[in-house]
Amino acid sequence: MTTAPPKYHEPVQGTIFHGDGREEALQKHLLQLPALQSDATKHLSLFDRSQRVLDAIHEFGKGANRYLMSVGDTKGKQVEELIAKRKPKLILEVGTYVGYSGISFSRQLLEAHPDATYPADWSSSGSSSNRAGYICLEKSEVYASTAQTAFELAGVVKAIKVLVGGSSSSIKSLRDALGLSKGQALDMIFLDHVKFLYSTDIKLLESEGLIDIGTVIVADNVVKPGNPAYLSWVRATPAQKKASLNKPALTEQPETTPNPPSSEWSTAFRDGPLDETRWAFPEAEGYSAPGDPSLVYKSSMLGGWDPYTQEEDACEVSECVGRE
Ligand SMILES: C[S@@+](CC[C@H](N)C(=O)[O-])C[C@H]1O[C@@H](n2cnc3c(N)ncnc32)[C@H](O)[C@@H]1O
Repeated sequence: MTTAPPKYHEPVQGTIFHGDGREEALQKHLLQLPALQSDATKHLSLFDRSQRVLDAIHEFGKGANRYLMSVGDTKGKQVEELIAKRKPKLILEVGTYVGYSGISFSRQLLEAHPDATYPADWSSSGSSSNRAGYICLEKSEVYASTAQTAFELAGVVKAIKVLVGGSSSSIKSLRDALGLSKGQALDMIFLDHVKFLYSTDIKLLESEGLIDIGTVIVADNVVKPGNPAYLSWVRATPAQKKASLNKPALTEQPETTPNPPSSEWSTAFRDGPLDETRWAFPEAEGYSAPGDPSLVYKSSMLGGWDPYTQEEDACEVSECVGRE
């Protein structure tokens, strides 16, 4: 994409931009908006009904002190296209906030699998046609509650399960929570939570066997604010990852690697995992795993824009294509 969308906000880094009551205000706003109530939406297609909720969230976010940290409609649309093309049946989202990406991406899952209902048991031997679902991990109960309201209004709720809690502990217990049999992996993962946990959590997902050949991982915000550590893991070869895991344990937190010059985004971080990928951050609540270094990813950037500040950003899309 070469043309930036209109700008609604000044950059918000360094100021309060969530958790000041705006998410509760959004929930109230959505519940009161006449255009979103069932009388007004029951005759609409799933796409039109869900789009009304996305537009309402987006409009709300244009207000003063109302910035919402959602994936937005440029990067979001690109990911929707990817889902429409690949038709994944089991998608995990890490970091749900008020549900914008959850609505965008789960409606594509429902378009591809219209009978999808979130199943009680994924391993059941019965018909697999309706075994499809969108799992949301969100740390904040307040944000998860707003997201749940948005999912209900958008008509996507039957295929969604929201799990409240820290991502690393939720990932560790995910196989049991979902009733997944040994060997079953996720089809798609969307990482959009606290940035320095991306590499911890992808390694946990690998070690739990939830990433396998065919799984696609989409990681948001790899340019703004950037995530060199994560990129260095998904862009590393199995040999580089194995060598990194054999290094002596770190005794102090390594310095944060800065972002590269913008001309080098696509080519940077291909010399093996950075030391940050081996550091245990307190936010992981004591959970860590070596990952599965044998997995081979085909990884590239999908460019886009922050929906409100007009700043350039991108998702890294990494497809697991083999084992070495
Ligand atoms: C950028 S927002 C997600 C935006 C959302 N994916 C969208 O596009 O609409 C990041 C979210 O991650 C959540 N979060 C932060 N750390 C987390 C953690 N360790 N586990 C789960 N969620 C976390 C935050 O509470 C916040 O709601």
